[in-house]
Amino acid sequence: MKRTQESLPAQRAHAVEAGRAIEGVSVGTLRAKYGSPLYIVSEAALRRNIRRFLSAFRSRYPETVVAYSYKTNYVSGICAILHQEGAWAEVVSGFELEHARALGVPGPQIVYNGPHKLVEYLLEAARQGVRVNADHQEELSHLEEVAKRLARPVKIGIRVNMKLTDTPWDKFGFNLESGQALEVCGRIHASKRLRLSGFHLHAGTRLADVEIYRAAIEGLLELASTVEREGLGEIEYLDLGGGFVSDNAAPSYDAYAEAICGPLNARREGLRRRPLLILEPGRAIVAAPVSLLVSVVAVKRTPEGRKLVVVDGGVNLLPAARRFRHDVLAGSRGAAHAENADVVGALCMQDDVLRRDVWLPPVRRGSILIVRHAGAYSISHSIQFIYPRPPVVLVRGKETYVLRRGERTEDLLRLDELPPHLATAPAVRGDGRSRRTASSPGARR
Ligand SMILES: Cc1ncc(COP(=O)(O)O)c(C=O)c1O
Repeated sequence: MKRTQESLPAQRAHAVEAGRAIEGVSVGTLRAKYGSPLYIVSEAALRRNIRRFLSAFRSRYPETVVAYSYKTNYVSGICAILHQEGAWAEVVSGFELEHARALGVPGPQIVYNGPHKLVEYLLEAARQGVRVNADHQEELSHLEEVAKRLARPVKIGIRVNMKLTDTPWDKFGFNLESGQALEVCGRIHASKRLRLSGFHLHAGTRLADVEIYRAAIEGLLELASTVEREGLGEIEYLDLGGGFVSDNAAPSYDAYAEAICGPLNARREGLRRRPLLILEPGRAIVAAPVSLLVSVVAVKRTPEGRKLVVVDGGVNLLPAARRFRHDVLAGSRGAAHAENADVVGALCMQDDVLRRDVWLPPVRRGSILIVRHAGAYSISHSIQFIYPRPPVVLVRGKETYVLRRGERTEDLLRLDELPPHLATAPAVRGDGRSRRTASSPGARR
C-alpha cells in the first residue's frame, strides 16, 4: 500500500477517470499516482495570482511589497514559489519565523506580527533586521529588554486598530480613535531604546468592501503625519495586512489597489518620505490555486430521500467548509442529468459535511470529486483526527511533484512516549485476555 490511508478497492477500476485536469494532468492520473484524498496545487495559477496582485498595486504605487501571510498555507513549496515571485514573508510565531529563515528569506524581508512573541524570538528577529510590529505594552517592554541586550536601539512598528467594520478586529494592537496609538508612539519616543518606524493594521478577513481599505490607509496616513509633525518618529512603512477576498471577480485586485493607492498618492505630502506599502494577503493568493481531490466511498439516501455522497476526506482536511460553500465538481464531466446532494466526509461526526446542496452528475463508489478554492486555511488548519493527512502535490504543466508526503502511522506515533511502567506491562483487554491472544483484526489499531 502506498500509504496508510484506507484505500478504496474500487479506486483502481476508475484509476484513469476521463475528464477534468489540473494544468496538463488529469485528475484521474493524479489519483492513480498519489492516491485519494489529495491536495493539488497549480503552480501556474499561484504564480499568476501573485503577479496580478503585485502589478495592480505597483502600477499605482511602485513602493509596494507583498509579505505573504504564512499561516494561510505554509507548505514550503508554496512559500518558495511566492518568494521566487518576490514576496516577503509575514509570520506570526517563532515557528513561522524559523520556517521563513530556513527558506532563505532575508530578515529585513520578514514581517513579524502576532500577539505572542517570545523574547528569544524577538531577540533573534532584532539581530536579523526582521520588521517586528508590537501588539501590546508587554511586548514593548520585551523589545526594550532586547535593545538593552543588543546595546543598541531597535526599530519597531506597532499594530493599530480602528473601527472599520461592524465587528472590528480590536483584539490586536493599539486603538487609533481613542488616542491610545498616538500615546504609545509618544512612549516609544521617550524610551530611547526603541525607534518607531511603521504602522500595521489588519482589519479582518474576506473584506469585500474596498472602502474599508480606503478608510484604513487614510487613518494610518493621518497618524503617520501627526507622529512626524510631533517629532515622535519617522515612518518608513504602512502595512495594511491581508483580508482581500479570494475570488477576485468582485472586488478585483485593481479595485483594492485603487482604494489604497489613491489616498497614499494624494495624501503623503505630510510625510518625510514615500512610505513603503506592505500588504499581507493570504487567501487572495493561495485559495484558488489549490484543489482538494476526494473519492466517493458510498452513495446513500436519508429516510426523506435526500442523496448523501460519502467521500474519503471531510472537514478534517477543509475546516473552512463548515462556514463557506466551496464549489464541488465531479471529476468527470457526466452528460447525464445532475441531482442535488450533500457531500459528507468520512469522520465519525454528524457535522462532517464538505458541502451541502450541490448539483452533481451521477456518482458511485470510486468517482472523483474536486473541491475548489481549497488553498486558504485548509492545510494549515487541517487536523489529524482519525485519519492521517494526505499528500500535497504540485502540478507544473505536465509534470507533478510531491510538496509534502502523506502522513504515515509512524509519523503520528513518533512523538508519543510510553513510560516504563506502561511499556513493559502486558496490554490487557477489558475481558481479561491479553492483546497477544486477541484475534480481532482491529486489535492493533
Ligand atoms: C496579521 C495578518 N496578516 C495577514 C493575514 C491574512 O489574511 P487573509 O488570508 O484574509 O488575506 C492575517 C489573517 O488573519 C493576519 O492576521
